[in-house]
Amino acid sequence: MPVEMEKIVSLCKRRGLIFQNSEIYGGLGSTWDYGPLGVELKRNVKDIWWHSVVREREDMEGLDAAILMHPTTWIASGHVESFTDPLVDCKKCKKRFRADDLKGEFCPECKGELTEMRKFNLMFKTFMGPVEDEGSVVYLRPETAQGIFVNFSNIQRAMRRKLPFGIAQIGKAFRNEITPGNFTFRTREFEQMEIEYFVKPGSDQQWYDYWVKERFDWYVKFGIKPENLRLREHGKDELAHYAKSCHDIEYLFPMGWSELEGIANRTDFDLKQHASHSGKDLHYFDEATKEQYIPYVIEPSAGADRATLAFLIDAYREEDVRGEKRVLLSLHRELAPIKAAVLPLLRNRPEIVAMAKKIAGDLRRHFRAVYDDTGSIGRLYRRQDEIGTPYCVTVDVQSLTDKEVTVRDRDSMEQDRIPIERLKEYLLEKLVS
Ligand code: GAP
Repeated sequence: MPVEMEKIVSLCKRRGLIFQNSEIYGGLGSTWDYGPLGVELKRNVKDIWWHSVVREREDMEGLDAAILMHPTTWIASGHVESFTDPLVDCKKCKKRFRADDLKGEFCPECKGELTEMRKFNLMFKTFMGPVEDEGSVVYLRPETAQGIFVNFSNIQRAMRRKLPFGIAQIGKAFRNEITPGNFTFRTREFEQMEIEYFVKPGSDQQWYDYWVKERFDWYVKFGIKPENLRLREHGKDELAHYAKSCHDIEYLFPMGWSELEGIANRTDFDLKQHASHSGKDLHYFDEATKEQYIPYVIEPSAGADRATLAFLIDAYREEDVRGEKRVLLSLHRELAPIKAAVLPLLRNRPEIVAMAKKIAGDLRRHFRAVYDDTGSIGRLYRRQDEIGTPYCVTVDVQSLTDKEVTVRDRDSMEQDRIPIERLKEYLLEKLVS
């Protein structure tokens, strides 16, 4: 059984992972702030993604495009016309609903009469420059993908790339969702991690299959239990306007199986649209075969917030240890916000405190390490378990003479006695192997 979402929300608040945005003003609907440990966790998620899909590969380039784009981008991409949800209002209580979420003809809250269905565009509109008229409308991007498409030729030429190759980008996206919710699962401001992988038409199915498997395996590699993941193919009626085929990687969230990432075959739709709206030639010239064509695109599109939430939920454990409940986040070591905590067994012994602080300072040069003496050793272990710290290093009275410390493993709770001079190598070996 997946953990209840309330437990995750409460842990996140208690331990400084995620807070309600603008909380002192009563909060702003479905917006969340990542606190000191949450920002480390989410950054680690983005880092392992970037490493896997850009730095460790020879067929990928990175990009960081602007959020605001030329408004014609969104006409070409189809978002102005088609990025809509069917919306109905209740005439009595004024609540809004997605028409496709409703079961009956009346308001599910107050049984009031509903308005006719209308299309509601999910893009946030704003104005560029001092004049607020139709000519100065710009949109907050609803996906990062379009920044990649409009830079395709720039990158292909500047980096002298041959097909197949991909472009990866991490960045904020905004959607005026009608029904946000489930904590950070669906919000109006979120971060995407997207790849557009450009291939020769005809080889698209092979690359599509490749990326579906590659992305599924990535979640398993970094700790998600395979039984909590599944693939779901989109039916023809639910495909986005640009897609020939799409598979969702779904995760068993507390509210049920839900999309974690989508992998779509976007064909040559986007590049053709941008070529036609900009008047620029976006063909690729294949030197080897002397052929000229618009590449097809395979798009693995993930959400950084959704991935972070899934890693958190999957790592959550409650155990019974000698009659006491132990809560821990069994996060993959590369995801853990803090890699090691150095704890003095006796905080009223200045020599022990000094030794522990010195060890934490030395470790900090290599990875995120903290010193903590704000409770008894039992409490300190519990706190580190709850935030997923893989190793706790305890300095005790004996350490002063034998120059050794105790290293406790978060998951097994086994302890090793290690010479201080070997501690860094010992931990690094465990953290990067
Ligand atoms: N470029 C394709 C695209 O944007 P999408 O399925 O709409 O496809 C891709 O979004 C991913 O972005 C989703 O799988 C999800 O992880 C994340 N995402 C989408 N809307 C979101 C929202 N409102 N809140 C949080 N994450 C969201």
